[in-house]
Amino acid sequence: MTADTTGYESEKYLHEYLLFHYGRPEEILPYSFGPREALGFPQRTVSECLRPEALPAHASALDLGCAVGRSSFELARHCDSVLAFDFSETFIRTAKILQQRGYLDYEIKQLANRRVPAVATVPADIDRSRVQFEVGDAHCDPQDFEPFDVVHAANLLCRMKDPGQLLGRLPDLVKPGGQLILTTPHTWLEEFTPPVNWPGAKSGQSDPSQALQKVLSEYFELLAEKDMPFLIREHARKFQWSVSLATVWQRRNISSNF
Ligand SMILES: C[S@@+](CC[C@H](N)C(=O)[O-])C[C@H]1O[C@@H](n2cnc3c(N)ncnc32)[C@H](O)[C@@H]1O
Repeated sequence: MTADTTGYESEKYLHEYLLFHYGRPEEILPYSFGPREALGFPQRTVSECLRPEALPAHASALDLGCAVGRSSFELARHCDSVLAFDFSETFIRTAKILQQRGYLDYEIKQLANRRVPAVATVPADIDRSRVQFEVGDAHCDPQDFEPFDVVHAANLLCRMKDPGQLLGRLPDLVKPGGQLILTTPHTWLEEFTPPVNWPGAKSGQSDPSQALQKVLSEYFELLAEKDMPFLIREHARKFQWSVSLATVWQRRNISSNF
């Protein structure tokens, strides 16, 4: 097992992400008030951003930083094959169990040490055999790949050591005419990404979202941009409400220099 440099190997994160990806609305937000439009984020990055009508038959997808896999399964509604990578061995081991069995028992944190049992379930109408989960590093994996019709990376960039490295590889990872779905809450933190690698740091651009768009627009055309809220429950009385900036791109039909 690799050292837990990101924290995503912990049981705390595992249970939070199982709830975030598979929890029922009333399990995540057990109040009559609260930001309901922030629920279902891992489903919405696919249902609200992917353009299924523009996909070829037998489309392939790559999900980078897939965590426990909900978006990867959602991509399988539209793509015949989905390769899903994450750095965390714990997340991938868990996603593989969900892929094989379709469900997994886990616990939802209430208050202090109190937990209640729950079951994470992959929707029955999804063909789970279309998804392959692998431990991998988005800085360099997958290797020896054919480019994909769809690349999806939700809330990954600001958790990477060097997001510029992935941005540089994206023109080769997405087929000409293919779709790129990126979301990021732009939570740039030194503990994950050295500030010298924050978007715009090297070019002197102070707005990281503008810096990202500038880099991508050389090889991709921006199709859509939207604010997407999401809610992660820590315990029954503590939540993280954040707003990701989602951008949807189409790979231009020009060759890359990479
Ligand atoms: C904030 S979570 C987002 C997870 C998921 N995409 C979602 O939207 O719920 C970031 C994920 O990226 C993974 N990650 C961080 N650095 C990575 C890297 N270099 N390669 C692959 N995955 C990475 C983490 O393990 C974690 O699962």
